[in-house]
Amino acid sequence: MTTQAIAQLDGATIEPSGGVCLHGLVKSYRGPEGPIRAVRGIEVSIAAGETVALLGPNGAGKSTTIDMLLGLSKPDGGTVSVFGRPPREAVDAGLVGAMLQTGGLIRDLSVRELVGMMASLYPDPMDVEEALEVTGLNATGGQRTHKLSGGQTQRVRFALAIVCNPDLLVLDEPTVALDVEGRREFWSIMREFAARGKTVLFATHYLEEADSNADRAILMAHGRIVADGPTTEIKARVGRRTLRATLPDVNQSSLAGLPGVAAAERHGAVVILSCIDSDQSIRALLEQYPAAKDIEITGGSLEDAFLELTGEPDADGPDADKPQPGTR
Ligand SMILES: Nc1ncnc2c1ncn2[C@@H]1O[C@H](COP(=O)(O)OP(=O)(O)O)[C@@H](O)[C@H]1O
Ligand SMILES: [Mg+2]
Repeated sequence: MTTQAIAQLDGATIEPSGGVCLHGLVKSYRGPEGPIRAVRGIEVSIAAGETVALLGPNGAGKSTTIDMLLGLSKPDGGTVSVFGRPPREAVDAGLVGAMLQTGGLIRDLSVRELVGMMASLYPDPMDVEEALEVTGLNATGGQRTHKLSGGQTQRVRFALAIVCNPDLLVLDEPTVALDVEGRREFWSIMREFAARGKTVLFATHYLEEADSNADRAILMAHGRIVADGPTTEIKARVGRRTLRATLPDVNQSSLAGLPGVAAAERHGAVVILSCIDSDQSIRALLEQYPAAKDIEITGGSLEDAFLELTGEPDADGPDADKPQPGTR
């Protein structure tokens, strides 16, 4: 049972020591036209062993949240607890490994030397060869850091994050610069690491990445959490696609009953299907109604979905900085 579940059952406020707890976090930056309210009061509790995606469009406040979680920046309000400790303390103890959005590798060292240097900074590091093994870098250990491909560089950055043998791994958009193959490789390495019972929090603006690599997604938009739950639920809420086709003489309810379809509308001869799984829907549609034509499938962008969930993007009511209740 998770710490959070115990806290809820007892009805008491127990400081969760087994995971991450962000309470009432607020952070603004100074902008040319007044304060930029990057994080506006968020509540997050992550149990040990969970893999959680922090999902949101650019500018949502993901990196700002992660920086506070790692103790790299100080919140204007609220508290952070990582395994029951303040973040800096947890990081210094080697309990937290992080891969940030920016940051290159020290040049003119071999991969093995760099990973070894990092390991020497921590009390209970992973064996360097094991860190190279886990990240698929056995064959790359002797290479100079400035001669690596994009995918190799990200794997070295990943090795640097895990060589302290952390219980919590924090990744801020780790695959942004990678091609499809690089992404696939990266996530498979990450999942293998997570399977060792580690707690993982990663930021992404790709719904697909959250869906395939996390158990739970926390949706952020405009500095707030707008949804928090199993990725399957989140996907059903924001991952819809619209399928349009010309198809007279078929009633709306049979269309709404097609696999993968959440709702159906008809406008004259045109039908509009809102799909949870448009691949499934299009196959079923063509099989059952081969006369369907002028077919179009469009994906609502994540930005649009977030806007729908959050309402006005910059609503600044009197409660704007109050913590928002999650859906969990
Ligand atoms: N150092 C900074 N100075 C001023 N504004 C910042 C700074 N860092 C981030 N911001 C602003 O704060 C908001 C949230 O940014 P960020 O946390 O980086 O979002 P995300 O990681 O979700 O893309 C954005 O409006 C961004 O422009
Ligand atoms: Mg960011």
